Amino acid sequence: MSSSETGAPLLKLDRLRVTFHAGTPNQRVALDDLSLSMAEGDFVVVIGSNGAGKSTMLNVISGALLPDSGRVELKGKDITNLAVHKRAAYIGRVFQDPMLGTAPALSIEENLALAGRRGLRRGFHLALNSTNRKRFADILAPFGLGLDTRMRVLAGKLSGGQRQVLALLMASLRKPQLLLLDEHTAALDPATAELVMQATRRIVEEDRLSALMITHNMQQAIQYGNRLIAMNAGRIKLELNAQAKQKLTVEDLIQRFGDASDRQLLQA
Ligand SMILES: Nc1ncnc2c1ncn2[C@@H]1O[C@H](COP(=O)(O)OP(=O)(O)O)[C@@H](O)[C@H]1O
Ligand SMILES: [Mg+2]
Repeated sequence: MSSSETGAPLLKLDRLRVTFHAGTPNQRVALDDLSLSMAEGDFVVVIGSNGAGKSTMLNVISGALLPDSGRVELKGKDITNLAVHKRAAYIGRVFQDPMLGTAPALSIEENLALAGRRGLRRGFHLALNSTNRKRFADILAPFGLGLDTRMRVLAGKLSGGQRQVLALLMASLRKPQLLLLDEHTAALDPATAELVMQATRRIVEEDRLSALMITHNMQQAIQYGNRLIAMNAGRIKLELNAQAKQKLTVEDLIQRFGDASDRQLLQA
């Protein structure tokens, strides 16, 4: 049943609260009753200063972290306490570190085969036969990185940008209901980051994915997605829709996000 049939949003975060080191001098409220609703097909971009709670929000959505209180619903189903591996079939994720999304000691095609059986029951093996090899090469070819002709090269031998594109493909191979991107271009040089962003747009559009992307790059935040959210201190401070984004400049964005202190933090 699709969420449009049930009327439920794709993702609903309801008053999520996460406190680290509660009751100690180091107590830190990372999510402060955060609520957010995403519709199917939304590409939501999240910005915010360091420590705003962006990664914590993604950790709660992916199941890596349990909130102290609040709910996470995916297509109307309460997944707040569902184990990470049980939601892996519905939620794909790419991290900032290119080392995290791919297995370095496996070849490109083995990594893709591994991703192809993510979320399936144990013992199910996606064999690397000629059909799959061709399919994987066909998936890689349009990205123009030459990876399709180097399918047996170990992922550990690839550049950071190549690994992030491979990680993106792996995260989206099973067509997840939601793709989570946590500053996945931040470790790359500007030209490579742009290439990976183009690959991101292509995958999101062609697979009609819904995505939640964190970035510290204001230009990316304006250029991509149909919704823009700015977080501060575990809350959503500003939200802009596609129309409001259209004429937005980086200066506007920084100004609208808040006062001088926020501005300083945003640019950090
Ligand atoms: N595992 C953790 N243990 C303790 N504190 C954490 C942990 N993860 C995040 N925090 C704290 O929670 C706050 C939000 O962090 P985070 O979600 O990583 O922010 P962002 O991704 O927006 O930079 C920060 O103050 C951070 O120091
Ligand atoms: Mg973070």
